[in-house]
Amino acid sequence: MTGLAMEQDRDAAQDGAAGRAGRIGEVILDLQNISLSFGGVKALTDISFDVREHEIRAIIGPNGAGKSSMLNVINGVYTPQQGRILLQGRQFARMNPRRAAEMGIARTFQNLALFKGMSVLDNIMTGRNLRMKAGVLAQALRLGPAEREEIAHREVVENIIDFLEIQAWRKTPVGRLPYGLQKRVDLGRALAMEPRILLLDEPMAGMNIEEKQDMSRYILDVNDEYGTTIVLIEHDMGVVMDISDRVVVLDYGRKIGDGTPDEVRSNPEVIRAYLGASH
Ligand SMILES: Nc1ncnc2c1ncn2[C@@H]1O[C@H](COP(=O)(O)OP(=O)(O)OP(=O)(O)O)[C@@H](O)[C@H]1O
Ligand SMILES: [Mg+2]
Repeated sequence: MTGLAMEQDRDAAQDGAAGRAGRIGEVILDLQNISLSFGGVKALTDISFDVREHEIRAIIGPNGAGKSSMLNVINGVYTPQQGRILLQGRQFARMNPRRAAEMGIARTFQNLALFKGMSVLDNIMTGRNLRMKAGVLAQALRLGPAEREEIAHREVVENIIDFLEIQAWRKTPVGRLPYGLQKRVDLGRALAMEPRILLLDEPMAGMNIEEKQDMSRYILDVNDEYGTTIVLIEHDMGVVMDISDRVVVLDYGRKIGDGTPDEVRSNPEVIRAYLGASH
């Protein structure tokens, strides 16, 4: 993504899924034969799939299937015992969260990781940390360049606040907001990193239908307007089928399906896994 001011391809955005499909590019992220275990627990077994630039790629599967673990491998929180990660063709034997962030990967968390006592504005500002060049001391002393830098960062943050329509709560401590809005702030914090790839771990969990519709709209808008590639974990099948370009299905740490929503929906192994699950 080259900046939040960009409103490229707005017309393509109006075409919905068909418009997006035309914009999907080359493979940006390629996961090859990933295996991850915790002691005796095999969280992921020999998982391979790729993500193309500008697509919305969903990861679905029953509880404990390994979905969050997969995101943690992608952004370097966990190092798999086997497999390779290629980001734009470059191989990373070991990814770590800082390097992932520097390479343009941002994420939201299944359990919110916001500072509850801090305002909406300041929480989203934390997403800018990595991009702040001026040191903390310079910031504190309000030296010229640092001050200018802070103004530029604030502008990006204010644009995100407008984009997510949360102006009314800019100064409100996040802990006082309803859950659905907190999730939106968490998305804002990730967007503040201006990521090329955005990893979303159940962004709609615990939301009512209206909140889910809103969140779906914001995810589609991020994808359309900024061209951000999105990897999305979601339990709500309606949402997944509506907004994703391709879906990978995990079950007990194994990949049991991969394809368009229609292909996945008619895959017997996927149907079996879901009939046996509680949702
Ligand atoms: N840090 C960890 N230490 C030990 N085991 C872990 C750890 N993280 C995940 N696991 C185990 O790995 C397996 C996959 O867990 P993971 O959280 O990736 O599943 P999930 O698909 O995200 O599930 P959910 O839908 O409930 O969020 C589970 O058996 C889980 O208990
Ligand atoms: Mg999970």
